[in-house]
Amino acid sequence: MTEQLRFDNKVVIITGAGAGLGRQHALMFGARGAKVVVNDLGGDIAGGGKSSAAADAVVEEIKALGGDAIANYDSVEDGAKIVQTALDAFGTVDILVNNAGILRDASFAKMTDADWDLIVRVHLNGTKAVTHAAWPILREKAYGRIVMTTSAAGIYGNFGQANYSAAKLGIYGLANTLAEEGRAKNILVNTIAPIAASRLTETAFPEEFLANLKPEAVSPLVGWLAHESCTETKGLFEVGAGYISKLRWERTRGYSFGTDRAFTPDDIARQWNKISDFADAEHPVTVNDTFTAVMQAVNTKTLGGNEFIDLDVAMREELVLESAYDERDLAIYALGVGAARDPMDDDERKFVYELGDFHALPTWGVMPQSNAMLALAKDGGLKLPGMSYGFDRVLHGEQYTEVRGPLPKSAKLKHIFKFKQAYDKDPHAVVVFGVSTVDEHGEEIVYNEMTSFVRGAGGWGGERGPSADINVPPAREPDAIVEEATDANQTLLYRLSGDWNPLHADPAFAKAFGYDKPILHGLCTFGHVGRHVVKAMLGNDPRKFKSIKVRFAEPVFPGETLVTKMWKEADNRVIVETSVKERGKVVIKNAVVEFYDEIPVRKPKAASEDANATAAVQPDKVIPQDVFAVIADHVAGHPELAAKVDTAFQFKLNNPESHWVLDLKTGADAVREGIADKADCTIELDADLLHTVVTAPLADVQKLFFGGQMKVGGDVMASNKLSELSVIDPDQYDKAKARRLAGNVT
Ligand code: NAI
Repeated sequence: MTEQLRFDNKVVIITGAGAGLGRQHALMFGARGAKVVVNDLGGDIAGGGKSSAAADAVVEEIKALGGDAIANYDSVEDGAKIVQTALDAFGTVDILVNNAGILRDASFAKMTDADWDLIVRVHLNGTKAVTHAAWPILREKAYGRIVMTTSAAGIYGNFGQANYSAAKLGIYGLANTLAEEGRAKNILVNTIAPIAASRLTETAFPEEFLANLKPEAVSPLVGWLAHESCTETKGLFEVGAGYISKLRWERTRGYSFGTDRAFTPDDIARQWNKISDFADAEHPVTVNDTFTAVMQAVNTKTLGGNEFIDLDVAMREELVLESAYDERDLAIYALGVGAARDPMDDDERKFVYELGDFHALPTWGVMPQSNAMLALAKDGGLKLPGMSYGFDRVLHGEQYTEVRGPLPKSAKLKHIFKFKQAYDKDPHAVVVFGVSTVDEHGEEIVYNEMTSFVRGAGGWGGERGPSADINVPPAREPDAIVEEATDANQTLLYRLSGDWNPLHADPAFAKAFGYDKPILHGLCTFGHVGRHVVKAMLGNDPRKFKSIKVRFAEPVFPGETLVTKMWKEADNRVIVETSVKERGKVVIKNAVVEFYDEIPVRKPKAASEDANATAAVQPDKVIPQDVFAVIADHVAGHPELAAKVDTAFQFKLNNPESHWVLDLKTGADAVREGIADKADCTIELDADLLHTVVTAPLADVQKLFFGGQMKVGGDVMASNKLSELSVIDPDQYDKAKARRLAGNVT
């Protein structure tokens, strides 16, 4: 058996110990060696009368158990007398349990001053009086344990108990301060909110329920809290029927308006959800926790906002979306922005034909992030940081797209949306978000800035922003003009790239917005303009294209003719303006396109994404020796391959040139460098594509063949059987490379 928690030589005062909970506490302490002062006035439940019988009976009970106890019959309001009894009988006080109590229940409307005063006097003043008398003794000896008795009625409120709940919560307040004041003197103060059958509760609960609420189920907690080995202080506990739990304060993260701008009840109404949202709540313990929160608010410089825009949240948070694209997306996009309308035109085929010298149009750079956002908006789930307006208020005002180099033919992307700026064009707003798009290697490949005009979202007293026009065309003839009709079904083609807004497809919908027919997507016009610049200024080679910035001025109707005028400026800049020929309206203005001096070379880690760039920039490839070493191992471990494939392959590799035999016919010396006596199938390709041939899916290998990068002679169909080798984990090739680099394999 573990050792009992004992109170030998400890002097404990228990008030109201003649009955109910106090009696059980007294018996518990007495049985465990304490010297007990059993205080009880011996009155009735409402505070009337007086008798020594109750206290005397409990003293006798304790003595019968072999304990030491003395009775006191004073009211707790005379606390000093009770403490004096302890001093006279036992010479000191170590533990005080403030427990005495009465009830004077009445609804607040009917409550008399006498009801109020008596309850406050017995509970709050009485607790204070006894504690105040004991306090100097406890301080002097630098030891004390105090247990206060509050009530659920005080903590939560209860009909008909205004006096009682006020006094009971007053006791908890007293306990909290005494815990602070007593801490340095080893005086620990805790509070219990009990529930037990007693004369106070006999009319409040049904008999069966009361039978389970034994007062002796509360006393063990009092014993533990009063023991010298317990270090708990300032605690609040609910206890009854064998159940014990601890309570604490909880505070929402709140909302700070800051100190540098006035705010109104209306502002509070708007932020009410945040003010009262307990998600991620804090649990303050001391007044310092309050000061800290308030001081943080003092130090917070708020940016402000209104019901549509919360600039502080916008600055603090970011949105990350993901998407992926491939050659099919690039080709559909290129068709959507009018590329390759003439299939015999060699110059633009590169934007739509993946087997040729394929290139992404640089303006594609705006699409993946925009599509990721629209996909979310379609499901109603888009929430740009700090922005609470609906999409129906938004007009795409300006777009800036900067590509870090030629875009890969396919990629898996992450788009990080960060708020950049908001201008208050009261009553409207202009909001700018920057979007950094990174590829699967974490390398930024595009940066976008999307400027939205948000109807009716202004008026928070912010800056109006710049108003002067930039990128204004010079007063001279343009250096180049591209005139090109859009197709009547241009929007239908373009929307396949991801912007499904019915405004661009449904005549009835367009009419509701005041247009005679569906209008072209702004970004469709944007794509046309970028392509016109690539055509006229870069000879249709998009690789030096750096950035494009446009302002959307007017909608374009499908079938109209776009006229893009370009003025070359210094520093690789071209000022651009596009108008509609039929209506003479400027549709894209204040636009500028920038070029790179040289084609940017992507960093090696991303190079494998772009087969064209591979040879140039991948310095440390898996070389044929590694590949064939791994294949040799694999073939040796899989003798069944010979029967299955039954083909002898001759590889001719270029750049640098080498010859390799893979004989899966005789199986003898299956893999070796050199020329085969007789091969069924010859395969010729660049050395650095060998890795692809033996790791990529068959479709990709066929692409090399149809794209002319792999030549196959002899039994052409037999080359498909190479896919039997694609079961080798590609990691093996890299590991072989690593071993070679580490010097284990030459
Ligand atoms: P109880 O009525 O059985 O015991 C209270 C004792 O305090 C009585 O013996 C009474 O004579 C004595 N007392 C009353 N006024 C006094 C005074 N001025 N000076 C000295 N002694 C005095 O009641 P119970 O239920 O044991 O209550 C104990 C404490 O627990 C009280 O403070 C009560 O408010 C509190 N409480 C009890 C709950 C319960 O479910 N029983 C619920 C919440 C709180």
